Amino acid sequence: MGFEPKLIATLQQATRIVIVTGSGISAESGIPTFRGEDGLWKKYRAEELATPEAFYSNPELVWEWYDWRRQLIGKAEPNPGHDVIAMMEGEYPEFLLITQNVDGLHRKAGSRNVVEIHGNIWRARCTGGCETSYLEENPITQLPPKCNCGAMLRPDIVWFGESLPIEGLLRAEKAIQECDVLIVIGTSGYVYPVASFPMIAQAAGAMVVEINIERTPISQIADFTLLGKAGDVLPALWNEVVQKG
Ligand code: OAD
Repeated sequence: MGFEPKLIATLQQATRIVIVTGSGISAESGIPTFRGEDGLWKKYRAEELATPEAFYSNPELVWEWYDWRRQLIGKAEPNPGHDVIAMMEGEYPEFLLITQNVDGLHRKAGSRNVVEIHGNIWRARCTGGCETSYLEENPITQLPPKCNCGAMLRPDIVWFGESLPIEGLLRAEKAIQECDVLIVIGTSGYVYPVASFPMIAQAAGAMVVEINIERTPISQIADFTLLGKAGDVLPALWNEVVQKG
């Protein structure tokens, strides 16, 4: 795989890197994406499963769907794409990974500076007033699960129409404004505010690199679009950055 010398040189000289990932990074771990051929939103209706209205009208159904996804994700392991991202974190003085994925595979691969901007499928939080949140990796025995206070628990996931967690969003926005290079991997670029990050980073002077199996709206502005599977492209790219460094 040959890469443009300018891309390699910029990655070698950069000190502040931000990586944004979407479901495409986990596709090679066997986790379905949302909008692809076999994507979840082709088989299920997002508005029946991923909105607060859907949850409060049928919490059992919504929990069943998340429980099914938990079981799928529970069997998955990080792939070479996740591994390279975890490795890169140790090589740059300032590094932030912003993931839209709720699967936890980046942390499993060893990434630590991570903002899970859409939440985490392994966490549940109280819908009552007590604000307790639970990290629970065991299968759910009672649907919907209940908090110790007696109120219903909900998946700690950002649903359509909901605000993003403010602390994570501010951290992400600051890093996007200040980075030298933004690498956007495996996202269709349709869901905001993440879809606006490439433009914001570029306007602030960063180089924008996209890795995807196909072109997306982000390709129109990206300085480099590397077409291929993240699990192939990332190791090849990183190999060149390290070898020629
Ligand atoms: P999408 O399903 O919209 O997009 C997945 C992207 O990954 C597509 O552009 C694919 O071409 C690309 N892709 C697939 N396999 C790949 C591979 N092996 N290597 C590289 N790229 C690959 O998923 P997201 O962009 O993540 O929100 O969707 C964004 C949000 O919409 C999700 O976080 C989710 C969903 O509704 C919530 O759950 C809150």
